[in-house]
Amino acid sequence: MLSKAFTARAHTNIALIKYWGKKDQELILPMNSSLSLTLDHFYTDTEVYFDQALKQDVFYLNEEKQNVSKVTQFMNIVRRQAGLKVFAHISSTNHVPTMAGLASSASAYAALAMAASQAAGLQLSRRDLSRLARRGSGSACRSIYGGFVEWQRGHDDQSSFASPIEENTNWNICMIAVVIDKARKKISSRLGMQRVVETSPFYTAWMKSTERDLAAIKEAIKKRDLKKVGTIAEENAMKMHALNMSAHPHFSYFEPASIAVMHLVELLRSEGICCYYTLDAGPNVKILCSVEDSTRILDRLAARFDKEQLLVARPGPGVHLINKK
Ligand code: PMV
Repeated sequence: MLSKAFTARAHTNIALIKYWGKKDQELILPMNSSLSLTLDHFYTDTEVYFDQALKQDVFYLNEEKQNVSKVTQFMNIVRRQAGLKVFAHISSTNHVPTMAGLASSASAYAALAMAASQAAGLQLSRRDLSRLARRGSGSACRSIYGGFVEWQRGHDDQSSFASPIEENTNWNICMIAVVIDKARKKISSRLGMQRVVETSPFYTAWMKSTERDLAAIKEAIKKRDLKKVGTIAEENAMKMHALNMSAHPHFSYFEPASIAVMHLVELLRSEGICCYYTLDAGPNVKILCSVEDSTRILDRLAARFDKEQLLVARPGPGVHLINKK
């Protein structure tokens, strides 16, 4: 017997205040709270149905069969919550360069959380969906909501979830993603985080200053102060990457082209264009700017990068069902 199939769409989010360190590896509880912007351009569609004939979960990503171990771990949480013992057929299409630091795991687990819980007959609130998505990948808990989203770190499974700050923001901002490398990252975010928590001498300072950054950026978002939001986000990202460089053994996600983009953004700023960069666990650079200025910035980037490497995204929506049936 088959359950009804449910398909959910979730969009990626890019953190303006980064989550970088776990307090609990199993529950995925973060060391610090974080804040992100959900984007419209990058998303994952995931269909789930349960099938009594299956001997294990089956997972297809972009039509290719995948190893199911991580997905099965996540599905076991859903099965426990629903009191189900049946395996599932899961099929995902990623409209995001997988594992390239454009947060594909965020959209992937947010979409899976919604599709799987619906197919299992659970009617979860968005808060509980956020808690569930968190168990797949921390940043996924923020992709349940659109626009600006805060993940309060909490102290246990119940209290660690994301909430919207401004879901349908009408702010005229965008993010330009400069895709430098689509390859899988050398150091996973899981490993990178663990290493900085254990070995960076700056970790305590990071936690303190991130708390201040979070409070300040929320004020700046309310005031629609792009200069302030961008400055705080850029500085917060650099603090995260400074942790990596101060770890033992030290590491970095920057490639020469990442640094070239960072320098270009600084140059554009000196020419009066309000733009700021951020980088996650990969070499791609995301540039925050107004929609108005984006054409000028893209023109300058076009001198060095191909059209296909430059993607422009605006604030996007939270996770939702897109069932065809
Ligand atoms: O959710 P994860 O395990 O993929 O970690 C995401 C970490 C960063 O993207 C670097 C920061 C963030 O808050 O999204």
